[in-house]
Amino acid sequence: MNALSQEKINEIRNSVNIVDVISSYIPLTPKGKNYFGVCPFHDDNNPSMSVSPSKQIYKCFSCGATGTVFKFIMDYENVSFMEAVKKVADMGGITVNIGKVHKKREFPALREIYDLSLKFYINNLNTSAGKEAKEYLNSRNINENVIKEFQIGLALKKDVLSKILIKKFKPEDVLKSGLVGKNDRGYYDLFYERIMFPLYDLEGNPVAYSGRIYNRQDNSKYFNTRETEIFKKGELIYNYHRAKDESRRKNQVIVMEGFMDVIRAYTVGIKNVIATMGTAVTDIQAHLIKRMAKEIILCFDGDEAGAKATMACSNELIKIGVTPKVIRLEDNLDPDEYIQKYGKEAFERKINNPISVMDFKLSYLKSGKDLNSNVDKAQYINELIAELNKIDDDILKELTIKKVATELDIDDNLIRRHLDKKEVKQIKKNIQPIITTKYEKAESSLVYYMLKSPEVISMYNNKVTYIPTKEYRLLAREISAFYKHFGFINEADFIDYIECEPELMATINKVNKNNSKETYTLEEIEDYIDVIKDYNIQEEIKRLTNKMKDLTDPLDKAKIAEEIVGLKKECKYV
Ligand code: CTP
Ligand code: MN
Repeated sequence: MNALSQEKINEIRNSVNIVDVISSYIPLTPKGKNYFGVCPFHDDNNPSMSVSPSKQIYKCFSCGATGTVFKFIMDYENVSFMEAVKKVADMGGITVNIGKVHKKREFPALREIYDLSLKFYINNLNTSAGKEAKEYLNSRNINENVIKEFQIGLALKKDVLSKILIKKFKPEDVLKSGLVGKNDRGYYDLFYERIMFPLYDLEGNPVAYSGRIYNRQDNSKYFNTRETEIFKKGELIYNYHRAKDESRRKNQVIVMEGFMDVIRAYTVGIKNVIATMGTAVTDIQAHLIKRMAKEIILCFDGDEAGAKATMACSNELIKIGVTPKVIRLEDNLDPDEYIQKYGKEAFERKINNPISVMDFKLSYLKSGKDLNSNVDKAQYINELIAELNKIDDDILKELTIKKVATELDIDDNLIRRHLDKKEVKQIKKNIQPIITTKYEKAESSLVYYMLKSPEVISMYNNKVTYIPTKEYRLLAREISAFYKHFGFINEADFIDYIECEPELMATINKVNKNNSKETYTLEEIEDYIDVIKDYNIQEEIKRLTNKMKDLTDPLDKAKIAEEIVGLKKECKYV
């Protein structure tokens, strides 16, 4: 149950204007009664999201995303309903006391194992056995405050943690954690003699470790927890939870490769930094980064691998409509080394003067080529054209064409002629399938108008016994229950009432995506109800037909056949 009453939640929602809140995340332009912007919840460049000040909801005509100010913040910032409520309360100057907001934790045993192991590792570092590791950290200018902030710990000799865990937790959970292995001699620690850097999920809970060697030779400098039920490598970003508010404020986020780089930057006071942790950026990570801030700066290691990673990461971002900026560090330095060598101010100058992603790509493609040779030159131009075709940013495209044409002394139209014709990008992902059957259309339209009108709710209550498709059935029941309780219906209040429950929200999105008309006639509603009745009858006929197949007695068969004929007569449309 909710820590806050429905009235309080209403008060909080009414303390802000949804238009102000959403426009602090994405630019909105007024048009008629509503405001429009590019929907952040699917890949798009067209202003398909409308925000209604009168209804206090937003709606995307393209992907169907809809909700109140709370839902917007939940999805944009990846926070729970209650956290979103708290944020809005802060904006509206309302004091609420909901304590620490805890999401319902999935896989509680694994999470407890991580909470406990974190304490265990942190403690190890503070014992006398941790002296060497401490010295190593200090030699890298990682002081006590940083150790505390980033909850750095230490795995010592083998098998101490597994002994503790196996006493407290079920063996299968301990094995699932990725911290403990088992062989014929029993359970053993997978991490030992490594400095342990916890990795967190998006909410800041520890869900994995990266362990670094500090006192011995080993093939791998870092050893990472394998994927578990609570740790999906491609879905998290190092330092996300610490960096996200600062990134919003600055509207800028700096992406690095290694968590040591992030720790260094954070320590000197540059807090809008995250790390991809040395692997190719996934689509999920790219979307997370996209929502953190408008200006995205890639600052990978200064070496060849870092340049390659910059290429890959920028392409993943470009795919979803983001044009990042790039910083390249000299002498193969990584950000950690650079900041230590040249200081914070020098690094800040770098951040304040990033190069465009196209300038970066030009020099990347150029490297190793001899532009006096026509073969290399042609290859360079072709590669460049391929890169130009990827980006949406028309201005940057044009500037790049001009620049290259001058530099290579060629006609800029030569490049332009080779560019793909711009087609209107069709939105592919995150989009629910379009409703196909007339039955489902009727169900969805009925529910759509139930969300708008008590009259339709009454018709549903009096005339519809059963909605066959589960998702619409559940939604209709909730709407009906809401109306019974409050005596009115409005979409914004209803969405808050169900606390943006994901399955119901998905259905609402789908319903909104497939219906758009504001008004209805009674005939239309009657018609939907008749189609739904038909649907039920058809389902019953199907059931009886199947049943008949199993029967042997001709009399029984005849009886059912008769029933089917009767049902068919009841159908209005079939
Ligand atoms: N990494 C890894 N395993 C390795 C090497 C690297 O998982 N054997 C990941 C780590 O997440 C690391 C990132 O890749 O943060 C970047 O690697 P690298 O640049 O080599 O690490 P640094 O940040 O420079 O770490 P250090 O300064 O401690 O050497
Ligand atoms: Mn380094």
